[in-house]
Amino acid sequence: MPKSLVRKALEGFQPYVPGEQPPDGEGWIKLNTNESPVPPSPKVLSAIKDAATDALRLYPSPTAAPAREAIALRFGLDPLQVAVGNGGDELIELCFRAFAGAGDTVAYPTPTYPLLEPLCRIHEARPSTHPTEEFSELPPSLAADPAPLKFIVNPNSPSGALFDQDAVEGAVAASSGVVVIDEAYVDFAPHSCLPLLERYDNVLLLRTFSKSYGLAGLRIGFALGPREVIETLSSVKDSYNVDRLAIVAAVAAINDEEHHRKLVDAVVHNRGELGAALAGMGFDVVPSATNFVFARPPKPAAGIVGALRERRILVRHYDREPIAGWIRITVGTRDQHDKLLKALKEVL
Ligand SMILES: Cc1ncc(COP(=O)(O)O)c(C=O)c1O
Repeated sequence: MPKSLVRKALEGFQPYVPGEQPPDGEGWIKLNTNESPVPPSPKVLSAIKDAATDALRLYPSPTAAPAREAIALRFGLDPLQVAVGNGGDELIELCFRAFAGAGDTVAYPTPTYPLLEPLCRIHEARPSTHPTEEFSELPPSLAADPAPLKFIVNPNSPSGALFDQDAVEGAVAASSGVVVIDEAYVDFAPHSCLPLLERYDNVLLLRTFSKSYGLAGLRIGFALGPREVIETLSSVKDSYNVDRLAIVAAVAAINDEEHHRKLVDAVVHNRGELGAALAGMGFDVVPSATNFVFARPPKPAAGIVGALRERRILVRHYDREPIAGWIRITVGTRDQHDKLLKALKEVL
């Protein structure tokens, strides 16, 4: 687009760059975008097939009511405490629309989810970043930051580390604005911040079906929070932000707790094996509470990542401080790990 046509605030804008998504069926081992190695529940697939009917000529429920009700039931909440979005990413963007505009600050610890920075630019908000000294330590300065909107990704990405529960609660208690706890990966962690919903009226939890339900391709996520916060969030969304197939899939997924548990247990088990194998090869490995492992190889990362790519294995590589030289590897199947580890041995 000619530069003169771009909004002034977006001159020099650096968009969020998602991980490489090669075409399906070309034999890539994709360990770069934290998708699930386990397929979705068969009940979800059949619910989607059943919903692929003439009824698709009709708009979906504007509030994704069946999904909100099923999610509320699952978490012991009122449906008015649940919002559903086109992936967790949409809900993050809605938080900007609802709670932080031009000139406001948006506070978060760094390093974290790189989507937040471009969203600040788009909404003309100012990022107020709080560097973490240790990956697992929430910077104490975050609590005192007067920003009307704060994000805590917990467990964090790309580190995979889980912040201390009391420190997160301290940040919520000290904040007068909205504190969003992005729990995209929390199902792989030992605990969540769900109990904070009973004690605070300024906290919002974000979840997604992309990771622990194996539904990244469907684009559905949800927010849990106080009624007023959810109402505000919902008031700024697009009319029909979640389609009919995603709504029925969300209901089927949330109701198939057995499959969900199996998926999470498999990932947690494989994560332990992968972390131990990498540590045995001389990588620095951050203890992970997610479906990925963040690690620093004993040799320069760029060469290793390039050599893996030549073997059709994709991992995420970071080249900006303070995490230059680190890589993030999604937990895969045992077979994928065998191929990855064999390739790493050759490369190292
Ligand atoms: C920290 C974090 N939050 C939110 C999301 C959003 O996930 P989705 O939009 O697929 O629900 C992701 C996806 O990778 C993530 O890493």
